[in-house]
Amino acid sequence: MISIFVINILVVCFTADAKVLMVLMEDDPLLTMSPSDIDAGIYKEKMVQEHDFFLESLLERGSYVKLYSYTHLLNGFAIHAKNEEVVHLLGSAKRVSYIHEDMKMQKLTTYTPQLLEINSGAWPALGGYAGAGKGVVIGLIDTGINPSHPSFTTGTSSTPPKFSRFKGKCVTGRQFPASSCNAKIVAAQYFARAAIAAGEFNATRDVASPFDPDGHGRQVTSTAAGIHNIPVKVNNFNYGFASGMAPGASIAVYKAMFPFGGYMSDVVAAVDQAVEDGVDILSLSIGPTGVPSGTSAFLNMLELELLFATKAGVLVVQAVGNGGPSPSSILSFSPWITSVAASITDRKYNSSLYLGNGQRYTGIGLAPPTMGSVHFQIAAAADVCRRNITAGLVESCQSPDAFIRTLARGKLIICTYTFDFDTEAATISRVAATVETIGAAGFILTMDPDIGADQIKGTTVTLRVPGIILYNMRSSSALWEYYNANTVRSTSGVAVIFGATARILDGRKASYGGKGAVVASYSSRGPDLNNARLETADVLKPNIMAPGSSIWAAWTPTSVGDEYIKGQSFAMLSGTSMATPHVAGIAALIKHKHRTWSPAAITSAMMTTANSTDRTGGPILAQRTSRLNPATPFDLGAGLINPSRAIDPGLIFDASFRHYLEFLCAVPGVDDMSIKRAVGVGCPPPDERMEWCSDLNMASVTVSNLVGTRKVTRRVTNVGGAEERYRVVVRPPLGVKVSVVPTEFTIGVNASRYIIMMMEARQRRNGYTFGEMVLEGSRDHVVRVPISVFVSSLL
Ligand SMILES: *[C@@H]1O[C@H](CO)[C@@H](O)[C@H](O)[C@H]1NC(C)=O
Ligand SMILES: *[C@@H]1O[C@H](CO)[C@@H](O)[C@H](O)[C@H]1NC(C)=O
Ligand SMILES: *[C@@H]1O[C@H](CO)[C@@H](O)[C@H](O)[C@H]1NC(C)=O
Ligand SMILES: *[C@@H]1O[C@H](CO)[C@@H](O)[C@H](O)[C@H]1NC(C)=O
Ligand SMILES: *[C@@H]1O[C@H](CO)[C@@H](O)[C@H](O)[C@H]1NC(C)=O
Repeated sequence: MISIFVINILVVCFTADAKVLMVLMEDDPLLTMSPSDIDAGIYKEKMVQEHDFFLESLLERGSYVKLYSYTHLLNGFAIHAKNEEVVHLLGSAKRVSYIHEDMKMQKLTTYTPQLLEINSGAWPALGGYAGAGKGVVIGLIDTGINPSHPSFTTGTSSTPPKFSRFKGKCVTGRQFPASSCNAKIVAAQYFARAAIAAGEFNATRDVASPFDPDGHGRQVTSTAAGIHNIPVKVNNFNYGFASGMAPGASIAVYKAMFPFGGYMSDVVAAVDQAVEDGVDILSLSIGPTGVPSGTSAFLNMLELELLFATKAGVLVVQAVGNGGPSPSSILSFSPWITSVAASITDRKYNSSLYLGNGQRYTGIGLAPPTMGSVHFQIAAAADVCRRNITAGLVESCQSPDAFIRTLARGKLIICTYTFDFDTEAATISRVAATVETIGAAGFILTMDPDIGADQIKGTTVTLRVPGIILYNMRSSSALWEYYNANTVRSTSGVAVIFGATARILDGRKASYGGKGAVVASYSSRGPDLNNARLETADVLKPNIMAPGSSIWAAWTPTSVGDEYIKGQSFAMLSGTSMATPHVAGIAALIKHKHRTWSPAAITSAMMTTANSTDRTGGPILAQRTSRLNPATPFDLGAGLINPSRAIDPGLIFDASFRHYLEFLCAVPGVDDMSIKRAVGVGCPPPDERMEWCSDLNMASVTVSNLVGTRKVTRRVTNVGGAEERYRVVVRPPLGVKVSVVPTEFTIGVNASRYIIMMMEARQRRNGYTFGEMVLEGSRDHVVRVPISVFVSSLL
């Protein structure tokens, strides 16, 4: 029976002979045994020995290398199997309950604190920014950290605080001396064995220590818990001040990702260690490269492990993915995880170009202005370059060698954004470097009409020389028209008099305005996927949205990761990766205030208090392929996170391990035996468990297949600190009648009660429809629950 199942899940994966496998044993992990601290060390050692003994007695010497023993959340190991014989032997071995082939993983703020109104709301409620998040440890599974960055060192004592629970260690190594850990960075380790086994780890580039060779890790870390008010200085210009969401929280670094990406078995080892160490929150700005195939995606090794992390009381926050705007592009899908969507902020940088004829054009470029208020002569790159250079090389301004310096000096050079910029063969930083080298006054980057101006890469790079990117095709054409009309050429076409002039204004000053957040086009969209048959699940994903576009945060000057931002200490990046640490940091603030809250309670608090409308009260919009329209819960979950309300939600929807187990048992097409093998615990008898996945006590309601009627049960707990009276208001999804009982109730301090919703299909629509249930409290608490329903049939 076991081997059949094992072969089943492996069948699709056989390709090369050597591979890394993650294997679960039938015996309990430490978490389940819950031994005393003294015994834990002994048990751990014994488990490792048992794994070694098991492998030695089953497999031929030299046919495998054990990479890790997993002991805390999972009882199992990762091995590098040298041939298929090893795989078959493991598959049919007694005591092996589950095998999963390794998978590749991918890496998926000065203004942000103000944008979320955290400085006027949540921080004061926690006694000020310095202590906000104090005593809470956020574990970051990422590319490591740069320990000398001001966001982690300024005003910090060199000795880590004493924790009652947390006991992580600080591993030293190249670029990571013993002094790297301090009161902010309280632990740091790295996990690279699978990357090494795969032959992808390059010790020179990837650095065998917790040091971050990439930049991604320190960026997410500084966003979650960077020190307050660190000046963002790039190229000697102060762009403002950066701060993490929880400046008082501690950081534990688990490096398991590298400039090239990473492997699940390394990540699983990192999570096992982080939870054993005692982190409170795990922030994962990473995800698998695709939804794992098999009976149910919920049962893949990392999801299982994160379920056990949740059981251990650790909140897991994960980026939802950057696969938007296509529907069902979610990479973070399990109900026990808080999956984060990304919004673009309404901060804008723009720059202006004034021409000698009085015209003004808007562009972009984080660059200083031209000197004084004088106009400079304009010259097209081709007119000040040597004539024997290939045309493409000239117009993209990538090499100073092409220019005739005496002609180019002091002029504004017109360069063109060619196809080479799209493939990153050419970059805007190199345009700036060229201009600097040849002594020109600056550059104007125009658009190539053949490419258009949809996606310009590298506009968030900060520049040392004046420059402007005329991203609008009309402005580009107008500039060329003006230039050609004012340039006198010899009969052979050589420019002899440069009569066109211009000046560039400062492009480094942000302007704010607009209506607030918009869902970023790249942010992955629901509905959530269930299993190999691609059925959608009764789970709302994403859960919540946070700012993710153009986020200023700490960067690595020596980064090997991104050509654009080499040499800078702060960088502005985008992605659901950037949104995730905002939520992890705000979760730390909630944990600070409510030490005993479960992961589900914290998630509920963030979701029920999120903003679903923008600053004008209109709906939050979502960027789709080429248009903006009102966002649905599949774009932004419950809404934009609102920290000051999240620390005082009034009511919570709580859930525990047992509920998640029942949920798994209710997933269509997943048999009880598979669950027992993967989770180690069997399903409760049918009459003692939830019938539908939609009954999991989440702060959202999703019914992916409504046939006739469905009863949906929720249980709320009053955490508001006083008795409160609530009124229940439902805005039903189109085509669905929703009756709710009770419609009004009074709930005592710490008391819980059920709310029953009866969903009745009234009309079939061509997809999901959306509504909400709002619980309005007499003491100003507003608890909002998004509802998503797909009516399959009326009966
Ligand atoms: C959230 O909504 C409230 C009420 O409409 C509004 O005052 C606040 O500015 C919003 N917050 C954000 C970050 O948009
Ligand atoms: C490892 O990285 C270094 C630095 O990036 C590079 O010079 C070297 O060629 C790489 N080695 C291999 C084997 O790829
Ligand atoms: C930025 O550009 C917009 C749109 O052209 C314009 O309305 C706004 O005034 C500009 N802001 C600055 C600071 O130039
Ligand atoms: C182009 O011409 C210059 C002199 O005008 C010469 O020095 C250079 O070598 C030439 N380059 C090529 C690629 O022919
Ligand atoms: C409610 O629960 C909190 C947290 O467990 C506790 O501190 C408080 O004393 C309880 N209040 C009452 C009235 O039971």
